[in-house]
Amino acid sequence: MSAQPDTTTENQSDTPDLEVHEQHEHILILDFGSQVTQLIARRLRESGVYCEIWPFNHADEDKIKAFDPKGIILSGGPCSVLDDDAPSAPDIVFEMGVPVFGICYGQQTMVQQLGGKVEGEQSREFGRATVEVVDESKIAAGVWSPGNEEQVWMSHGDHVAELPDGFRVIAKSEGAPFAFIADTDRRFYGVQFHPEVVHTPHGKDLLRNFTHNICRCSGDWTMAAFREEAVAKIREQVGDGKVICGLSGGVDSSVTAVLLHEAIGDQLTCIYVDTGMMRSNESAQVVELFRDHYNIPLIHEDVGDLFLGELEGVADPEVKRKTIGRLFIEVFEKRAKEIGDAKYLAQGTLYPDVIESVSFTGGPSVTIKSHHNVGGLPERMDLQLVEPLRELFKDEVRELGVELGMHEDFVKRHPFPGPGLAIRMPGEITREKLQILRKADDVYLDEIRKAGLYDEIWQAFAVLLPVKTVGVMGDGRTYDYVCALRAVTSTDGMTADYYPFSHEFLGRVSTRIINEVHGINRVTYDITSKPPGTIEWE
Ligand code: XMP
Repeated sequence: MSAQPDTTTENQSDTPDLEVHEQHEHILILDFGSQVTQLIARRLRESGVYCEIWPFNHADEDKIKAFDPKGIILSGGPCSVLDDDAPSAPDIVFEMGVPVFGICYGQQTMVQQLGGKVEGEQSREFGRATVEVVDESKIAAGVWSPGNEEQVWMSHGDHVAELPDGFRVIAKSEGAPFAFIADTDRRFYGVQFHPEVVHTPHGKDLLRNFTHNICRCSGDWTMAAFREEAVAKIREQVGDGKVICGLSGGVDSSVTAVLLHEAIGDQLTCIYVDTGMMRSNESAQVVELFRDHYNIPLIHEDVGDLFLGELEGVADPEVKRKTIGRLFIEVFEKRAKEIGDAKYLAQGTLYPDVIESVSFTGGPSVTIKSHHNVGGLPERMDLQLVEPLRELFKDEVRELGVELGMHEDFVKRHPFPGPGLAIRMPGEITREKLQILRKADDVYLDEIRKAGLYDEIWQAFAVLLPVKTVGVMGDGRTYDYVCALRAVTSTDGMTADYYPFSHEFLGRVSTRIINEVHGINRVTYDITSKPPGTIEWE
Protein backbone atom coordinates (compact mmCIF):
# COMPACT_ATOMS: atom_id res chain seq x y z
CA MET A 1 0.00 0.00 0.00
CA SER A 2 2.68 2.49 0.95
CA ALA A 3 4.23 2.15 -2.53
CA GLN A 4 1.06 3.49 -4.09
CA PRO A 5 1.20 7.13 -5.17
CA ASP A 6 -0.95 9.39 -3.08
CA THR A 7 -3.58 10.09 -5.71
CA THR A 8 -5.73 12.14 -3.36
CA THR A 9 -3.05 14.76 -2.97
CA GLU A 10 -2.25 14.63 -6.67
CA ASN A 11 -5.86 15.20 -7.61
CA GLN A 12 -6.18 18.03 -5.18
CA SER A 13 -3.21 19.87 -6.58
CA ASP A 14 -4.56 19.32 -10.12
CA THR A 15 -7.96 20.66 -9.24
CA PRO A 16 -7.25 24.37 -9.75
CA ASP A 17 -6.32 23.79 -13.39
CA LEU A 18 -9.82 22.56 -14.08
CA GLU A 19 -12.68 24.83 -15.00
CA VAL A 20 -15.67 24.76 -12.67
CA HIS A 21 -17.70 22.76 -15.18
CA GLU A 22 -15.04 20.05 -15.30
CA GLN A 23 -15.39 19.47 -11.59
CA HIS A 24 -19.17 19.20 -11.53
CA GLU A 25 -21.92 17.58 -13.51
CA HIS A 26 -23.16 20.31 -15.77
CA ILE A 27 -25.93 21.27 -18.14
CA LEU A 28 -25.67 23.56 -21.14
CA ILE A 29 -28.40 26.16 -21.72
CA LEU A 30 -28.48 27.50 -25.26
CA ASP A 31 -30.00 30.97 -25.22
CA PHE A 32 -32.30 32.10 -28.02
CA GLY A 33 -32.82 35.51 -26.42
CA SER A 34 -35.71 35.00 -23.99
CA GLN A 35 -36.13 37.61 -21.25
CA VAL A 36 -36.21 34.79 -18.70
CA THR A 37 -33.30 32.56 -19.76
CA GLN A 38 -31.39 33.45 -16.60
CA LEU A 39 -34.23 32.00 -14.56
CA ILE A 40 -33.61 28.56 -16.09
CA ALA A 41 -30.06 28.72 -14.75
CA ARG A 42 -31.27 29.88 -11.35
CA ARG A 43 -33.77 27.02 -11.06
CA LEU A 44 -31.09 24.47 -11.98
CA ARG A 45 -28.57 25.92 -9.54
CA GLU A 46 -31.23 25.83 -6.80
CA SER A 47 -31.41 22.07 -7.40
CA GLY A 48 -27.64 21.77 -7.02
CA VAL A 49 -26.80 21.53 -10.72
CA TYR A 50 -24.08 23.64 -12.28
CA CYS A 51 -24.99 25.09 -15.68
CA GLU A 52 -23.82 27.69 -18.15
CA ILE A 53 -25.78 29.90 -20.56
CA TRP A 54 -24.32 30.28 -24.04
CA PRO A 55 -25.80 32.34 -26.89
CA PHE A 56 -27.03 29.84 -29.53
CA ASN A 57 -24.88 31.46 -32.22
CA HIS A 58 -21.65 31.20 -30.22
CA ALA A 59 -21.98 27.48 -29.66
CA ASP A 60 -20.36 25.47 -32.43
CA GLU A 61 -20.06 21.71 -32.62
CA ASP A 62 -16.53 21.53 -31.22
CA LYS A 63 -17.27 23.79 -28.29
CA ILE A 64 -20.37 21.85 -27.32
CA LYS A 65 -18.57 18.53 -27.59
CA ALA A 66 -15.65 19.81 -25.53
CA PHE A 67 -18.04 21.13 -22.87
CA ASP A 68 -19.50 17.62 -22.63
CA PRO A 69 -22.79 18.48 -20.88
CA LYS A 70 -25.01 15.88 -19.22
CA GLY A 71 -27.99 17.51 -20.90
CA ILE A 72 -28.92 20.52 -23.00
CA ILE A 73 -31.76 23.01 -22.52
CA LEU A 74 -32.93 25.19 -25.41
CA SER A 75 -34.39 28.46 -24.13
CA GLY A 76 -37.30 30.52 -25.36
CA GLY A 77 -36.78 33.52 -27.61
CA PRO A 78 -38.50 36.38 -29.41
CA CYS A 79 -38.18 35.01 -32.99
CA SER A 80 -40.52 32.79 -35.02
CA VAL A 81 -39.15 29.53 -36.43
CA LEU A 82 -41.27 30.33 -39.48
CA ASP A 83 -39.04 33.31 -40.38
CA ASP A 84 -36.46 32.83 -43.13
CA ASP A 85 -33.38 33.35 -41.01
CA ALA A 86 -34.80 31.93 -37.77
CA PRO A 87 -32.14 30.81 -35.27
CA SER A 88 -31.74 27.09 -34.76
CA ALA A 89 -29.76 24.74 -32.53
CA PRO A 90 -26.52 23.28 -33.92
CA ASP A 91 -27.27 19.71 -35.21
CA ILE A 92 -24.80 18.25 -32.73
CA VAL A 93 -27.31 19.01 -29.96
CA PHE A 94 -29.54 16.20 -31.27
CA GLU A 95 -26.69 13.87 -32.23
CA MET A 96 -24.68 13.62 -29.00
CA GLY A 97 -26.99 11.16 -27.31
CA VAL A 98 -27.62 13.51 -24.35
CA PRO A 99 -31.11 14.51 -23.15
CA VAL A 100 -32.52 17.73 -24.63
CA PHE A 101 -35.28 19.92 -23.17
CA GLY A 102 -36.77 22.60 -25.44
CA ILE A 103 -38.69 25.45 -23.82
CA CYS A 104 -41.14 27.54 -25.90
CA TYR A 105 -39.03 28.69 -28.90
CA GLY A 106 -36.60 25.90 -27.96
CA GLN A 107 -39.41 23.34 -28.32
CA GLN A 108 -40.47 24.79 -31.65
CA THR A 109 -37.01 24.76 -33.19
CA MET A 110 -36.43 21.22 -31.91
CA VAL A 111 -39.69 20.05 -33.48
CA GLN A 112 -38.93 21.74 -36.78
CA GLN A 113 -35.32 20.56 -36.90
CA LEU A 114 -36.43 16.97 -36.24
CA GLY A 115 -39.05 16.93 -39.02
CA GLY A 116 -42.26 18.12 -37.28
CA LYS A 117 -44.32 21.20 -38.07
CA VAL A 118 -44.87 24.58 -36.39
CA GLU A 119 -47.73 26.93 -37.22
CA GLY A 120 -48.13 30.62 -36.52
CA GLU A 121 -50.43 33.07 -34.90
CA GLN A 122 -54.03 31.69 -34.70
CA SER A 123 -53.80 30.64 -31.08
CA ARG A 124 -51.67 33.06 -29.10
CA GLU A 125 -51.50 32.50 -25.34
CA PHE A 126 -49.92 35.00 -22.92
CA GLY A 127 -49.86 34.74 -19.16
CA ARG A 128 -51.51 32.15 -16.95
CA ALA A 129 -52.92 29.08 -18.71
CA THR A 130 -54.08 25.61 -17.79
CA VAL A 131 -52.81 22.37 -19.26
CA GLU A 132 -54.48 18.97 -19.05
CA VAL A 133 -52.09 16.12 -18.36
CA VAL A 134 -52.90 13.23 -20.71
CA ASP A 135 -50.05 10.76 -20.33
CA GLU A 136 -47.36 9.63 -17.92
CA SER A 137 -43.71 10.46 -18.34
CA LYS A 138 -40.51 10.16 -16.35
CA ILE A 139 -40.05 13.92 -16.62
CA ALA A 140 -43.39 14.56 -14.87
CA ALA A 141 -43.10 11.64 -12.41
CA GLY A 142 -44.16 12.58 -8.91
CA VAL A 143 -45.15 16.04 -10.10
CA TRP A 144 -48.03 15.80 -12.60
CA SER A 145 -50.39 12.83 -13.11
CA PRO A 146 -52.65 12.03 -16.07
CA GLY A 147 -56.18 13.42 -15.67
CA ASN A 148 -55.05 16.49 -13.69
CA GLU A 149 -55.25 20.10 -14.73
CA GLU A 150 -52.16 22.15 -13.97
CA GLN A 151 -51.33 25.85 -14.00
CA VAL A 152 -48.54 27.07 -16.29
CA TRP A 153 -47.29 30.35 -17.73
CA MET A 154 -47.43 30.71 -21.51
CA SER A 155 -46.04 33.36 -23.82
CA HIS A 156 -46.24 32.27 -27.43
CA GLY A 157 -47.65 33.13 -30.84
CA ASP A 158 -46.52 30.06 -32.81
CA HIS A 159 -47.28 26.51 -31.71
CA VAL A 160 -46.33 22.95 -32.62
CA ALA A 161 -48.83 21.49 -35.11
CA GLU A 162 -47.29 18.15 -36.02
CA LEU A 163 -44.88 16.04 -33.98
CA PRO A 164 -41.67 14.54 -35.35
CA ASP A 165 -41.47 10.71 -35.34
CA GLY A 166 -40.98 9.21 -31.93
CA PHE A 167 -42.74 11.97 -29.93
CA ARG A 168 -45.98 11.72 -27.94
CA VAL A 169 -48.10 14.23 -26.01
CA ILE A 170 -47.82 14.48 -22.21
CA ALA A 171 -50.06 17.54 -21.74
CA LYS A 172 -52.18 19.85 -23.87
CA SER A 173 -53.83 23.25 -23.51
CA GLU A 174 -56.55 25.01 -25.45
CA GLY A 175 -54.11 27.00 -27.55
CA ALA A 176 -51.33 24.40 -27.66
CA PRO A 177 -52.37 20.80 -28.42
CA PHE A 178 -48.73 19.81 -27.96
CA ALA A 179 -48.02 21.83 -24.83
CA PHE A 180 -45.73 19.13 -23.37
CA ILE A 181 -44.16 16.44 -25.57
CA ALA A 182 -41.67 13.63 -25.09
CA ASP A 183 -39.58 11.23 -27.11
CA THR A 184 -38.62 8.84 -24.34
CA ASP A 185 -36.19 6.74 -26.41
CA ARG A 186 -34.05 9.66 -27.49
CA ARG A 187 -34.72 11.50 -24.19
CA PHE A 188 -35.95 14.64 -26.00
CA TYR A 189 -38.58 16.76 -24.24
CA GLY A 190 -40.37 19.95 -25.14
CA VAL A 191 -42.76 22.37 -23.45
CA GLN A 192 -44.67 25.28 -24.91
CA PHE A 193 -44.95 26.91 -21.47
CA HIS A 194 -42.18 28.34 -19.28
CA PRO A 195 -41.30 26.01 -16.38
CA GLU A 196 -38.59 28.42 -15.17
CA VAL A 197 -40.96 31.19 -13.99
CA VAL A 198 -42.69 31.11 -10.61
CA HIS A 199 -46.10 31.39 -12.29
CA THR A 200 -45.66 27.75 -13.34
CA PRO A 201 -45.89 26.44 -9.76
CA HIS A 202 -44.40 22.97 -10.46
CA GLY A 203 -42.00 24.16 -13.14
CA LYS A 204 -38.97 23.88 -10.89
CA ASP A 205 -39.85 20.24 -10.11
CA LEU A 206 -40.18 19.42 -13.82
CA LEU A 207 -36.74 20.93 -14.45
CA ARG A 208 -35.39 18.98 -11.49
CA ASN A 209 -36.80 15.76 -12.92
CA PHE A 210 -35.06 16.59 -16.19
CA THR A 211 -31.68 17.17 -14.57
CA HIS A 212 -31.86 14.49 -11.86
CA ASN A 213 -33.99 11.68 -13.36
CA ILE A 214 -33.33 12.06 -17.06
CA CYS A 215 -29.78 13.51 -17.17
CA ARG A 216 -28.91 11.67 -13.94
CA CYS A 217 -27.26 14.61 -12.22
CA SER A 218 -26.79 14.04 -8.50
CA GLY A 219 -26.81 17.71 -7.49
CA ASP A 220 -23.13 18.10 -6.62
CA TRP A 221 -23.07 21.92 -6.84
CA THR A 222 -22.93 23.15 -3.25
CA MET A 223 -21.54 26.31 -1.73
CA ALA A 224 -19.16 24.32 0.49
CA ALA A 225 -17.66 22.68 -2.61
CA PHE A 226 -17.54 25.99 -4.44
CA ARG A 227 -15.72 27.65 -1.56
CA GLU A 228 -13.04 24.97 -1.43
CA GLU A 229 -12.47 25.06 -5.16
CA ALA A 230 -12.48 28.85 -5.33
CA VAL A 231 -9.83 29.05 -2.60
CA ALA A 232 -7.63 26.52 -4.42
CA LYS A 233 -8.09 28.36 -7.72
CA ILE A 234 -7.16 31.74 -6.23
CA ARG A 235 -3.99 30.26 -4.72
CA GLU A 236 -3.11 28.70 -8.05
CA GLN A 237 -3.69 31.95 -9.94
CA VAL A 238 -1.85 34.41 -7.72
CA GLY A 239 0.90 32.24 -6.22
CA ASP A 240 2.76 34.55 -3.83
CA GLY A 241 1.74 37.72 -5.72
CA LYS A 242 0.08 40.70 -4.08
CA VAL A 243 -3.60 41.41 -4.68
CA ILE A 244 -5.55 44.62 -4.19
CA CYS A 245 -9.29 44.73 -3.84
CA GLY A 246 -11.51 47.79 -4.03
CA LEU A 247 -14.00 47.47 -1.24
CA SER A 248 -17.27 49.37 -1.42
CA GLY A 249 -18.96 47.78 1.56
CA GLY A 250 -21.45 46.12 -0.77
CA VAL A 251 -22.04 42.37 -0.72
CA ASP A 252 -20.10 41.43 -3.85
CA SER A 253 -16.83 43.15 -3.00
CA SER A 254 -17.11 42.13 0.67
CA VAL A 255 -17.56 38.44 -0.11
CA THR A 256 -14.74 38.65 -2.67
CA ALA A 257 -12.45 40.13 -0.01
CA VAL A 258 -13.28 37.56 2.66
CA LEU A 259 -12.84 34.68 0.21
CA LEU A 260 -9.50 36.07 -0.96
CA HIS A 261 -8.35 36.57 2.58
CA GLU A 262 -9.12 32.95 3.34
CA ALA A 263 -7.08 31.93 0.29
CA ILE A 264 -4.03 34.20 0.51
CA GLY A 265 -4.10 35.94 3.90
CA ASP A 266 -2.17 39.19 4.02
CA GLN A 267 -1.07 39.07 0.40
CA LEU A 268 -4.40 40.89 0.10
CA THR A 269 -4.85 44.62 0.72
CA CYS A 270 -8.29 46.19 0.51
CA ILE A 271 -8.84 49.82 -0.37
CA TYR A 272 -12.02 51.49 0.82
CA VAL A 273 -12.58 54.85 -0.85
CA ASP A 274 -14.71 57.09 1.33
CA THR A 275 -16.00 59.62 -1.18
CA GLY A 276 -17.79 61.74 1.40
CA MET A 277 -21.02 60.53 -0.17
CA MET A 278 -21.59 57.42 1.92
CA ARG A 279 -24.55 56.83 4.23
CA SER A 280 -24.38 57.49 7.94
CA ASN A 281 -22.04 55.11 9.76
CA GLU A 282 -21.21 53.32 6.51
CA SER A 283 -17.45 53.89 6.70
CA ALA A 284 -17.24 52.97 10.37
CA GLN A 285 -19.11 49.71 9.73
CA VAL A 286 -16.87 48.68 6.83
CA VAL A 287 -13.68 49.48 8.70
CA GLU A 288 -14.93 47.70 11.78
CA LEU A 289 -15.84 44.56 9.86
CA PHE A 290 -12.73 44.24 7.74
CA ARG A 291 -9.90 45.73 9.74
CA ASP A 292 -11.05 45.05 13.26
CA HIS A 293 -13.14 41.92 12.89
CA TYR A 294 -11.51 40.03 10.01
CA ASN A 295 -8.04 41.48 10.42
CA ILE A 296 -7.82 42.15 6.70
CA PRO A 297 -5.30 44.85 5.79
CA LEU A 298 -7.49 47.80 4.86
CA ILE A 299 -6.62 51.26 3.67
CA HIS A 300 -9.35 53.73 4.51
CA GLU A 301 -9.07 56.55 1.99
CA ASP A 302 -10.85 59.54 3.47
CA VAL A 303 -11.10 61.67 0.34
CA GLY A 304 -14.44 63.43 0.76
CA ASP A 305 -12.85 66.88 0.31
CA LEU A 306 -11.34 65.91 -3.02
CA PHE A 307 -14.59 64.46 -4.38
CA LEU A 308 -16.89 67.18 -3.11
CA GLY A 309 -14.47 69.86 -4.33
CA GLU A 310 -14.41 68.50 -7.88
CA LEU A 311 -18.16 68.03 -7.90
CA GLU A 312 -18.91 71.58 -6.87
CA GLY A 313 -21.45 73.12 -9.25
CA VAL A 314 -21.91 69.85 -11.20
CA ALA A 315 -25.59 69.00 -11.77
CA ASP A 316 -25.58 66.78 -14.86
CA PRO A 317 -25.95 63.10 -13.85
CA GLU A 318 -23.49 61.75 -16.41
CA VAL A 319 -20.86 64.36 -15.55
CA LYS A 320 -21.31 63.46 -11.88
CA ARG A 321 -20.86 59.75 -12.60
CA LYS A 322 -17.85 60.26 -14.85
CA THR A 323 -16.16 62.65 -12.41
CA ILE A 324 -16.62 60.19 -9.55
CA GLY A 325 -15.37 57.29 -11.71
CA ARG A 326 -12.26 59.24 -12.73
CA LEU A 327 -11.42 60.35 -9.18
CA PHE A 328 -11.98 56.87 -7.85
CA ILE A 329 -9.45 55.50 -10.32
CA GLU A 330 -6.93 58.24 -9.51
CA VAL A 331 -7.14 57.61 -5.77
CA PHE A 332 -6.99 53.88 -6.24
CA GLU A 333 -4.06 54.07 -8.65
CA LYS A 334 -2.02 56.26 -6.33
CA ARG A 335 -2.52 53.96 -3.37
CA ALA A 336 -1.93 50.80 -5.35
CA LYS A 337 1.48 52.15 -6.44
CA GLU A 338 2.36 52.82 -2.81
CA ILE A 339 1.45 49.28 -1.82
CA GLY A 340 4.17 48.15 -4.18
CA ASP A 341 4.30 45.36 -6.64
CA ALA A 342 0.62 44.37 -6.71
CA LYS A 343 0.04 42.27 -9.80
CA TYR A 344 -3.61 41.47 -9.31
CA LEU A 345 -6.86 43.31 -8.89
CA ALA A 346 -9.79 41.44 -7.31
CA GLN A 347 -13.31 42.31 -8.43
CA GLY A 348 -16.74 41.05 -7.44
CA THR A 349 -17.92 40.45 -11.02
CA LEU A 350 -21.04 38.23 -11.06
CA TYR A 351 -22.43 35.78 -13.61
CA PRO A 352 -25.12 38.14 -14.96
CA ASP A 353 -22.30 40.56 -15.92
CA VAL A 354 -20.52 37.77 -17.76
CA ILE A 355 -23.37 36.23 -19.73
CA GLU A 356 -23.37 37.52 -23.25
CA SER A 357 -26.93 38.32 -24.16
CA VAL A 358 -28.22 37.51 -27.60
CA SER A 359 -28.82 40.64 -29.63
CA PHE A 360 -31.21 40.29 -32.51
CA THR A 361 -31.00 43.91 -33.53
CA GLY A 362 -27.23 43.77 -33.80
CA GLY A 363 -27.08 47.50 -33.02
CA PRO A 364 -25.12 49.05 -30.19
CA SER A 365 -27.16 49.35 -27.04
CA VAL A 366 -27.93 52.78 -25.66
CA THR A 367 -26.02 53.92 -22.58
CA ILE A 368 -28.66 54.54 -19.94
CA LYS A 369 -26.09 55.46 -17.31
CA SER A 370 -22.37 54.96 -16.91
CA HIS A 371 -22.09 52.56 -13.99
CA HIS A 372 -18.77 52.94 -12.36
CA ASN A 373 -16.60 50.35 -10.71
CA VAL A 374 -12.86 49.89 -10.84
CA GLY A 375 -13.13 48.18 -14.22
CA GLY A 376 -11.07 50.88 -15.93
CA LEU A 377 -8.04 50.04 -13.84
CA PRO A 378 -6.45 46.94 -15.33
CA GLU A 379 -5.65 48.54 -18.72
CA ARG A 380 -4.10 51.57 -17.07
CA MET A 381 -2.23 49.70 -14.40
CA ASP A 382 -1.28 46.48 -16.04
CA LEU A 383 -3.08 44.43 -13.39
CA GLN A 384 -4.50 40.98 -13.92
CA LEU A 385 -8.04 40.39 -12.75
CA VAL A 386 -9.04 37.95 -10.05
CA GLU A 387 -12.80 37.41 -10.26
CA PRO A 388 -13.75 34.48 -8.01
CA LEU A 389 -17.52 35.14 -8.19
CA ARG A 390 -17.80 35.05 -11.99
CA GLU A 391 -19.91 31.88 -11.94
CA LEU A 392 -22.37 33.04 -9.28
CA PHE A 393 -25.70 34.82 -9.14
CA LYS A 394 -26.33 37.46 -6.47
CA ASP A 395 -28.28 35.12 -4.21
CA GLU A 396 -25.49 32.54 -4.50
CA VAL A 397 -22.98 35.21 -3.46
CA ARG A 398 -25.09 35.80 -0.38
CA GLU A 399 -25.10 32.04 0.31
CA LEU A 400 -21.33 31.97 -0.09
CA GLY A 401 -21.05 34.86 2.36
CA VAL A 402 -22.99 32.85 4.94
CA GLU A 403 -20.83 29.79 4.16
CA LEU A 404 -17.77 31.95 4.87
CA GLY A 405 -19.20 32.83 8.25
CA MET A 406 -20.07 36.44 7.43
CA HIS A 407 -22.84 37.89 9.49
CA GLU A 408 -26.30 37.65 7.89
CA ASP A 409 -26.91 41.37 8.42
CA PHE A 410 -23.93 42.16 6.29
CA VAL A 411 -24.59 39.54 3.62
CA LYS A 412 -28.20 40.60 3.20
CA ARG A 413 -27.46 44.32 2.85
CA HIS A 414 -29.22 46.09 0.01
CA PRO A 415 -27.00 47.04 -2.94
CA PHE A 416 -25.41 50.50 -2.69
CA PRO A 417 -24.11 52.08 -5.91
CA GLY A 418 -20.47 53.12 -6.36
CA PRO A 419 -21.30 56.84 -6.79
CA GLY A 420 -23.17 56.69 -3.48
CA LEU A 421 -25.53 59.46 -2.41
CA ALA A 422 -24.39 61.61 -5.38
CA ILE A 423 -26.94 59.89 -7.62
CA ARG A 424 -29.71 60.15 -5.02
CA MET A 425 -29.59 63.92 -5.11
CA PRO A 426 -30.59 65.30 -8.52
CA GLY A 427 -28.86 68.63 -9.11
CA GLU A 428 -25.85 70.03 -7.31
CA ILE A 429 -24.25 68.17 -4.40
CA THR A 430 -23.59 70.12 -1.21
CA ARG A 431 -22.52 69.06 2.25
CA GLU A 432 -25.72 70.48 3.70
CA LYS A 433 -27.90 68.42 1.32
CA LEU A 434 -25.82 65.30 1.99
CA GLN A 435 -26.40 65.73 5.70
CA ILE A 436 -30.17 66.08 5.20
CA LEU A 437 -30.32 63.05 2.91
CA ARG A 438 -28.30 60.88 5.30
CA LYS A 439 -30.71 61.58 8.13
CA ALA A 440 -33.83 60.94 6.03
CA ASP A 441 -32.38 57.69 4.68
CA ASP A 442 -31.53 56.58 8.19
CA VAL A 443 -35.07 57.15 9.49
CA TYR A 444 -36.61 55.40 6.46
CA LEU A 445 -34.42 52.29 6.80
CA ASP A 446 -34.95 52.21 10.54
CA GLU A 447 -38.72 52.01 9.99
CA ILE A 448 -38.30 49.35 7.29
CA ARG A 449 -36.23 47.22 9.67
CA LYS A 450 -38.66 47.73 12.54
CA ALA A 451 -41.54 46.60 10.31
CA GLY A 452 -39.56 43.43 9.42
CA LEU A 453 -39.58 44.32 5.72
CA TYR A 454 -35.85 44.76 5.02
CA ASP A 455 -35.24 41.27 3.61
CA GLU A 456 -38.34 41.34 1.40
CA ILE A 457 -37.10 44.43 -0.37
CA TRP A 458 -34.28 44.40 -2.95
CA GLN A 459 -33.30 47.99 -2.30
CA ALA A 460 -34.77 50.94 -0.41
CA PHE A 461 -33.45 54.48 -0.09
CA ALA A 462 -34.37 58.13 0.19
CA VAL A 463 -33.79 60.69 -2.56
CA LEU A 464 -33.46 64.43 -1.94
CA LEU A 465 -35.16 66.45 -4.68
CA PRO A 466 -33.80 69.83 -5.82
CA VAL A 467 -37.21 71.33 -5.19
CA LYS A 468 -38.38 73.43 -2.26
CA THR A 469 -42.03 73.66 -1.34
CA VAL A 470 -44.06 75.66 1.15
CA GLY A 471 -45.35 74.03 4.30
CA VAL A 472 -46.67 74.97 7.70
CA MET A 473 -45.25 73.71 10.97
CA GLY A 474 -46.66 74.93 14.26
CA ASP A 475 -47.72 78.44 13.41
CA GLY A 476 -44.93 79.13 11.00
CA ARG A 477 -44.30 78.89 7.30
CA THR A 478 -41.61 76.49 6.09
CA TYR A 479 -39.86 76.47 2.74
CA ASP A 480 -37.87 73.23 2.55
CA TYR A 481 -36.81 70.32 0.33
CA VAL A 482 -38.97 67.42 -0.89
CA CYS A 483 -37.82 63.90 -0.09
CA ALA A 484 -38.82 60.97 -2.32
CA LEU A 485 -38.80 57.43 -0.96
CA ARG A 486 -37.95 54.49 -3.21
CA ALA A 487 -38.28 50.75 -2.48
CA VAL A 488 -38.23 47.99 -5.08
CA THR A 489 -38.41 44.24 -5.38
CA SER A 490 -36.21 42.60 -7.99
CA THR A 491 -34.23 39.44 -8.67
CA ASP A 492 -31.18 40.95 -10.32
CA GLY A 493 -31.67 44.71 -10.55
CA MET A 494 -32.38 44.48 -14.30
CA THR A 495 -36.12 44.84 -13.84
CA ALA A 496 -37.95 45.95 -10.71
CA ASP A 497 -41.36 46.60 -9.20
CA TYR A 498 -42.09 49.24 -6.61
CA TYR A 499 -42.76 47.78 -3.15
CA PRO A 500 -46.43 48.01 -2.08
CA PHE A 501 -46.07 49.54 1.40
CA SER A 502 -49.27 50.10 3.36
CA HIS A 503 -50.46 53.71 3.58
CA GLU A 504 -50.12 53.48 7.31
CA PHE A 505 -46.41 52.61 7.01
CA LEU A 506 -45.78 55.42 4.53
CA GLY A 507 -47.62 57.87 6.77
CA ARG A 508 -45.48 56.87 9.74
CA VAL A 509 -42.20 57.32 7.82
CA SER A 510 -43.35 60.65 6.43
CA THR A 511 -44.23 61.99 9.88
CA ARG A 512 -40.93 60.88 11.35
CA ILE A 513 -38.83 62.35 8.52
CA ILE A 514 -40.58 65.72 8.67
CA ASN A 515 -40.36 65.84 12.46
CA GLU A 516 -36.78 64.64 12.75
CA VAL A 517 -35.00 65.92 9.67
CA HIS A 518 -34.57 69.68 9.45
CA GLY A 519 -34.66 70.80 5.83
CA ILE A 520 -37.44 68.49 4.60
CA ASN A 521 -41.11 69.45 4.77
CA ARG A 522 -42.71 67.09 2.23
CA VAL A 523 -42.37 63.35 1.47
CA THR A 524 -43.50 61.44 -1.63
CA TYR A 525 -43.35 57.75 -2.59
CA ASP A 526 -42.05 56.68 -6.00
CA ILE A 527 -44.33 54.07 -7.62
CA THR A 528 -42.44 53.65 -10.90
CA SER A 529 -41.35 50.20 -12.03
CA LYS A 530 -38.18 49.47 -14.00
CA PRO A 531 -38.66 49.78 -16.93
CA PRO A 532 -39.73 52.49 -17.63
CA GLY A 533 -37.93 54.01 -14.61
CA THR A 534 -34.53 52.93 -13.32
CA ILE A 535 -33.94 52.01 -9.68
CA GLU A 536 -31.71 54.98 -8.88
CA TRP A 537 -32.93 58.45 -9.86
CA GLU A 538 -29.81 59.36 -11.83
P1 XMP B 1 -30.38 51.31 -12.08
O1 XMP B 1 -30.46 52.65 -11.44
O2 XMP B 1 -29.51 51.30 -13.31
O3 XMP B 1 -29.64 50.39 -11.01
O4 XMP B 1 -31.72 50.70 -12.34
C1 XMP B 1 -29.57 48.98 -11.03
C2 XMP B 1 -28.75 48.54 -9.83
O5 XMP B 1 -27.39 48.96 -9.97
C3 XMP B 1 -27.02 49.83 -8.92
N1 XMP B 1 -26.20 50.89 -9.50
C4 XMP B 1 -24.86 50.93 -9.44
N2 XMP B 1 -23.99 50.12 -8.83
N3 XMP B 1 -22.19 51.47 -9.59
C5 XMP B 1 -22.65 50.41 -8.90
O6 XMP B 1 -21.84 49.70 -8.31
C6 XMP B 1 -23.02 52.34 -10.22
O7 XMP B 1 -22.58 53.31 -10.84
C7 XMP B 1 -24.43 52.05 -10.14
N4 XMP B 1 -25.53 52.68 -10.62
C8 XMP B 1 -26.62 51.94 -10.21
C9 XMP B 1 -28.31 50.35 -8.34
O8 XMP B 1 -28.16 50.77 -6.99
C10 XMP B 1 -29.22 49.14 -8.51
O9 XMP B 1 -29.02 48.18 -7.49
